[in-house]
Amino acid sequence: MCGIFGYLGYQDAAPLVLAGLERLAYRGYDSAGVAVIDRAGHLEVRKSAGKLANLTTLLEREPLSGSGLGHTRWATHGAPTDANAHPHLDGTGEVVVVHNGIVENYIELKARLTAEGHEFSSATDTEVIPHLIQELLAQGHTLAEAVRLAAAELRGAHAIACMHAGSPDTLVALRIGNAGGVSVGFGSGEMFVASDLPALLPLTTSVAPLAPGEMAVVTPEGCEMLTLDGRRIDTARQTVTMNPVAAAKGGHRHFMLKEIMEQPESAMSCLRGRLAFTPPSAVLGELPFTSEELRSLSRVVFLGMGTTQYATRVGARMTELLARLPASAEDASEYRYREPVVDEATLAVGVSQSGETADTLEAMHLAADGGARTLAITNVAGSQADRGADATLLMHAGPEIGVASTKTFVNSMLVMYLLATHLGHARGALTDDAAAGHVDAAARLPALLGEALELNRGVYERLAAAYVKARRFLFLGRGLLDPIAREGALKLKEISYIHAEGMAAAEMKHGPIALIDRETPVVALVLRDALYEKMLGNISEVKARGGVVIAIATAGDDSIAAQVDDVLWVPPCPPMLAPMLAAVPVQLFAYHTAVHLGNDVDQPRNLAKSVTVE
Ligand code: AGP
Repeated sequence: MCGIFGYLGYQDAAPLVLAGLERLAYRGYDSAGVAVIDRAGHLEVRKSAGKLANLTTLLEREPLSGSGLGHTRWATHGAPTDANAHPHLDGTGEVVVVHNGIVENYIELKARLTAEGHEFSSATDTEVIPHLIQELLAQGHTLAEAVRLAAAELRGAHAIACMHAGSPDTLVALRIGNAGGVSVGFGSGEMFVASDLPALLPLTTSVAPLAPGEMAVVTPEGCEMLTLDGRRIDTARQTVTMNPVAAAKGGHRHFMLKEIMEQPESAMSCLRGRLAFTPPSAVLGELPFTSEELRSLSRVVFLGMGTTQYATRVGARMTELLARLPASAEDASEYRYREPVVDEATLAVGVSQSGETADTLEAMHLAADGGARTLAITNVAGSQADRGADATLLMHAGPEIGVASTKTFVNSMLVMYLLATHLGHARGALTDDAAAGHVDAAARLPALLGEALELNRGVYERLAAAYVKARRFLFLGRGLLDPIAREGALKLKEISYIHAEGMAAAEMKHGPIALIDRETPVVALVLRDALYEKMLGNISEVKARGGVVIAIATAGDDSIAAQVDDVLWVPPCPPMLAPMLAAVPVQLFAYHTAVHLGNDVDQPRNLAKSVTVE
């Protein structure tokens, strides 16, 4: 996840910006940069691929004086090079921008700007933003207006900070959607801007986090808040009395909630450097396999346990759908003892957020011994899974402290979506246009996750209170949502300790339907997909037996409300994103039920973050 830090005031910005970026380094990055504007309005930029130490050395050698901003970047579009590092400039060299987000429509914006004579020096999507601002300044708009109007042209979720050489005492920051935070920090005669609170707390405890759709115009004396449609609003200034642990929780009550809420950003981190748009493709440079080797594969076996095994069920279906390759999702502990048929044409994909799950590791070793190529998908670089496989695709979810997997669950499905797209394209099962459609869909996930997190405000707490006395729950889903039903049951079980069972919806008629009564709520995942009508039939079967149904449905599907007892909404989305978005309501339903019960949400009884025993 990228980091943003800005400073306006009587001190030199560069050392403060560097220290602020160091405090954001935990978010992960592969390049960094600083821009400073001196009193005479002279703007200078220093940026460097690699670690912050490289940038520090550069600034020691060529010091800068004045106010400014900085950025740590995890490569999005374009490799982690000096040229692609932020900050980025416009054509005049007087507008400077740092950005966290994915400009989903940057190709059309870049084409329009290029046709108008703009020249670009990087392969990033971000670079279109200062050029848009340059155009609007040339039309006579103020800096704040130019930034606001430029933001209106961007599709996706963003956090942006911008300065202009002509007004060295002004920094404009804004937030669109829910994929990247930005907060203002208040000093005495000086002001700060940062991606999140840990970077501000050593400097000030008086902060104003920007909500999605808000913009701050900051000067050393303070800041003015506006909405992105130009209305002035009160500054929601607050005093943060956070201890370091609370700061690490980002102000949330539990790590699990923080990690659920940061899924837009963690999904963005997973996508960085892996989406190409010209020509469209899922770029998995970590894979050492040639197209010929990918075409020679005869099957893919996904291996995992628990929550992660449910993710592999999604991955296997995506692989069959997109790559037309036979694919299976195996319980690793069973696979180990099944004497499976494996050969050189098998790709065995071991998925493990910890990278240390004993059963998954052993199943990968067994597949390798049978001649399979092995691929690890994990959140921990240097884990046994990472070290033991032929190749690794990292989830890039950032540290997951809560024992119950949330953001790593979504990121593991996202990596498998990119893998299925890559395999399908390499094997000719996906045309360029079809691959482009999946690349565009993947790029939309961070913003859609942000929307999913905004929906159902207050509903989770109400449902938790209403259903907490249930004897048990059933979770029903079909197709790509069958594994999400299973995960929803597991999430509820492992943190609320209420028994729940997830299954393919049609399976209910073959026995579990005997459990239906008023004390057994049924959570039905009934999104507007190809199996929607079938799910409605299952809901009718439950209601006909006096059952209670909580639907997880597509926002705007007003007809569903009359057929069930309660609804949790998910934003309309491309089909392949449905399992990743439906994960949000099942995670939050489990979380709020456990909180209502007073359970230790981050450290549920009997659970461990990685099961390193068989
Ligand atoms: C934790 O929420 C999970 N419920 C747990 O089942 C986990 O998914 C499983 O232990 C596998 O862990 P891994 O992803 O680290 O291999």
